[in-house]
Amino acid sequence: MTEALKAVRITEHVYWVGAIDWAIRNFHGYKTSQGTTYNAFLIIGDKITLIDTVKAPFKDELLSRISSVIDPNKIDYIVSNHSEMDHTGCLPGFIHTLKPEKVFASKMGAKALLQHFGLKEIEAVADGQTLSLGNLNLTFTETRMLHWPDSMFTYLEEDKILFSQDAFGMHLASGKRFIDEVGDWESEAAKYYANILLPFSPMVTGLLAKVSKMNLPIEIIAPDHGPIFRKDLDRIIGLYAKWARQDPTTKAVIVFDTMWQSTAKMAAAICDGLVEGGAETKVIPLDAGHRSDVAAEILDAGALIVGSPTMNNNIFPPVADVLTYLKGLKPRNIIGAAFGSYGWSGEGVKQIEEFFDAMKIEKVCGGLNVQYVPTSADLEKCRAQGLQIAQRLKDIAAGTLPFKK
Ligand code: FEO
Repeated sequence: MTEALKAVRITEHVYWVGAIDWAIRNFHGYKTSQGTTYNAFLIIGDKITLIDTVKAPFKDELLSRISSVIDPNKIDYIVSNHSEMDHTGCLPGFIHTLKPEKVFASKMGAKALLQHFGLKEIEAVADGQTLSLGNLNLTFTETRMLHWPDSMFTYLEEDKILFSQDAFGMHLASGKRFIDEVGDWESEAAKYYANILLPFSPMVTGLLAKVSKMNLPIEIIAPDHGPIFRKDLDRIIGLYAKWARQDPTTKAVIVFDTMWQSTAKMAAAICDGLVEGGAETKVIPLDAGHRSDVAAEILDAGALIVGSPTMNNNIFPPVADVLTYLKGLKPRNIIGAAFGSYGWSGEGVKQIEEFFDAMKIEKVCGGLNVQYVPTSADLEKCRAQGLQIAQRLKDIAAGTLPFKK
């Protein structure tokens, strides 16, 4: 076991006992450039309770941090707020070796833990149910689809702390445990929202309303990834409300890949038109950007403009990768346009437009498809398309044009 790693005290009764993953760069397809943490929390009540565990390879780190406070064998209860394996990897082993008196999860959580690990001893708790730890009280709130059907929040009444599992988290490895110690965190929180929670935005809106109605006096939000919010609670909640709405904006994102620079030249000309038309413009050549960077940029964008060469009658594979990923994230309130180049056939642009149709993204203008190398006249059409999109974004933002769903 890793020795001498310490817990960090958060409140009178609660310690952070999680693990820091400095090395991870691929979190099921999401490029985690700054690593992550798997947070777990130890509540020292009459019933000693562990909230979540960590990813399996970090078991010794978790045990060491728990051991700096108490003998792990003294854990009475474990609460599993979320069944994904970055939080339950150590659960089967802990149940086997530490033999806690009870393990709790939501109804869907109990089912998921049975299916994942064959765990039959999980006690299902209901939405709104409370659990006495003797001197302390927990309340459970179902948060279905945030991030999995099993997810729930746990609130510790006496310390006014909300254990929010994936919600309000971010992938950020740091030696600092609290949000006010880590400097600028908003871009990592936004990237996390865009890549993990974006498809569930309607549920986020519903959950924020539900929690607000519960009127809990929350002083700390303790997510399962990244820093703990003992400050800026209103800020992160406000950002979640904004990201969930995805209001139309005048920002345009151009995503493209290129084989022999023809599609790249078209991207540059479209960008010029957008900028001339007053649109905030971000260009992501896929040689230099990852699908998860594209998702982060889309979060506050009003237009997605995608370019691809045609390769063997198909869209270029890196572009198909990004579009497949974005399709799953279900961005809303975005208009789209396609462009690309080809040699002897030109299916790439049409296939981009098929993605747009599947994603319910309105095509703001016809796709631009150029054979071999764009001429000056072709590039002028690209620039004009950029201008047209910029004007459309302005009209939508000004409310003079309705946004078509
Ligand atoms: Fe951090 Fe959905 O797991």
